[in-house]
Amino acid sequence: GRPLRVALLGCGVVGSQVVRLMGEQADDLAARIGAPLELAGVAVRRLGRKRDGEVDPALLTTDAEGLVAREDVDIVVEVIGGIEPARSLILAAMAGGKSVVTANKALLAEDGATVHGTAKRHGADLYFEASVAGAIPLLRPLRESLAGDRVHRVLGIVNGTTNYILDKMDSSGASFTDALEEAQALGYAEADPTADVEGFDAAAKAAILAGLAFHTRVTAADVHREGITEITSTDVSSANAMGYVIKLLAICARADDGRTVGVRVHPAMIPRSHPLAGVREAYNAVFVEAESGGQLMFYGKGAGGAPTASAVLGDLVAVARNRLAGTCGPQESTYADLSVHPMGET
Ligand code: HSE
Repeated sequence: GRPLRVALLGCGVVGSQVVRLMGEQADDLAARIGAPLELAGVAVRRLGRKRDGEVDPALLTTDAEGLVAREDVDIVVEVIGGIEPARSLILAAMAGGKSVVTANKALLAEDGATVHGTAKRHGADLYFEASVAGAIPLLRPLRESLAGDRVHRVLGIVNGTTNYILDKMDSSGASFTDALEEAQALGYAEADPTADVEGFDAAAKAAILAGLAFHTRVTAADVHREGITEITSTDVSSANAMGYVIKLLAICARADDGRTVGVRVHPAMIPRSHPLAGVREAYNAVFVEAESGGQLMFYGKGAGGAPTASAVLGDLVAVARNRLAGTCGPQESTYADLSVHPMGET
């Protein structure tokens, strides 16, 4: 078939890996989709920076808006992060009939209503698997595979940077600052690592998970949040001496009344024997407890360029297939009447 043209917004840690994978796997992707994917352009903040992905300089532009508006673009992939300009670009893309793939947890958690509402209004295809837990397939299972079940609780480690820091403090006695610097060098941390260490990143992901798990609308403001900046080496070693490990947990739970949802992110003491205690470095792990399905466990690389790009590529294949078939992926659920609050009876 005719090539599907992809506009990439952002070429940082994740974007450069998307470019690399689209190039290296071009033939396989074309065979899977039934048409080749072609990079129409890559929008960056400034030109002339050295990029990991060795992007064809002819594709680079600083005019993201112009790129999104181009007639020949079918799919927009947003990996800029943050609220603006990402939101305006995504909304313009959907209004212009493009399919959208985004990794933007902050935006979906803060203003998912506008993003999902616009997708619905324009019949636009919107996939966002890369927004939570990197390479781990988690949103599609919640959105689709478990849509017939009743989820009671989603619990786990959803921020790679803080897990990396806590793990290094525990296993090698590293200082908080040194461990954070390593996590940054490895491409795990957000542009502003405050988002990681203060729990904002995990809270955004918890909001997205809770929204999908309970088919309700949850924003970052609904999430009780406590980060790991107050945790000292002494806390970590005392926990260790007692047979515990400190982890930053995200917990989304339906209360016993069934009508209330509580969402929270905070450090917790986990017994060494618990599976979450064995989650090392920047790995993530999420447990889902469903009425009929029982306990499910999702585990894998939750941060970093290539793992996150893997999820982006999966979404790219999905929207490309949908586009060729003239269909769309699942839209946001029609909401149940649940009340959401920061702590919940859990
Ligand atoms: N900064 C995030 C993390 C990246 O450390 O988990 C993945 O979303």
